[in-house]
Amino acid sequence: MRIDIATLFPDMCETVLSESIVGRARKAGKIELHCHQIRDYSTDKHRRVDDTPYGGGMGMVMQAEPIYRCFLAVTENFTQKPHVIYMSPKGKTFTQQRAVELSKMENIFIICGHYEGVDQRVIDKIVDEEISIGDYVLTGGELPALVISDAIARMCDGVLSSAECFEEESHFSGLLEYPHYTRPEVWEGESVPEVLLTGHHKNIAEFRHNEALKITRERRPDLYTKFTENNNMNSK
Ligand SMILES: C[S@@+](CC[C@H](N)C(=O)[O-])C[C@H]1O[C@@H](n2cnc3c(N)ncnc32)[C@H](O)[C@@H]1O
Repeated sequence: MRIDIATLFPDMCETVLSESIVGRARKAGKIELHCHQIRDYSTDKHRRVDDTPYGGGMGMVMQAEPIYRCFLAVTENFTQKPHVIYMSPKGKTFTQQRAVELSKMENIFIICGHYEGVDQRVIDKIVDEEISIGDYVLTGGELPALVISDAIARMCDGVLSSAECFEEESHFSGLLEYPHYTRPEVWEGESVPEVLLTGHHKNIAEFRHNEALKITRERRPDLYTKFTENNNMNSK
């Protein structure tokens, strides 16, 4: 899959996307990620991309034209319009399930807003979906774009070594994950749960599943209820 990010801070995005699992996946050709400077598509001699809001009010608004020109240039040789996402606190809240769905798409184009946001007309013209990463306001769409790109990339074939790497992780099955332990066996007087030292795979799996149920019930009763309903379990 290919993700294109239109931003005023491509270096910030590149730095993050060149590291760790996503960086390695890019190098190995498992996913394609490109960051584009929206200013490169401004027709203003000072490379301006924002202006004051019609109707008055605080702050500046990103103009439609540079974003649209960036979109047209990037997608010039695409055979199909990519799925266009505008990162926005007004969007639908991102979930693991949406990450899985988006990982099946061939091309995604992400627009990062700044200042007060983006001229509504370019959103109406090209955007398919507005996504929020939570009920708070950040300075720009870069961190949200990086968050969703990372979550989507992890779900793409071959990015993680096997599906087992993410199938038991929090939110994939609807539960939060069980706790982890590593060496030493006793640390600050606290021992690793006995069952994890037995090598008995079935008992270990059962212990972990019960821990996952317990943590989910305690921390996220909303998720717990949904999980028990979906799996025909008694939620008591
Ligand atoms: C300062 S915010 C603008 C907020 C906007 N005036 C509002 O009240 O909805 C600038 C940009 O950051 C991004 N952004 C901020 N918070 C976000 C969030 N929770 N999720 C996704 N994007 C966000 C958006 O791209 C937004 O255009």
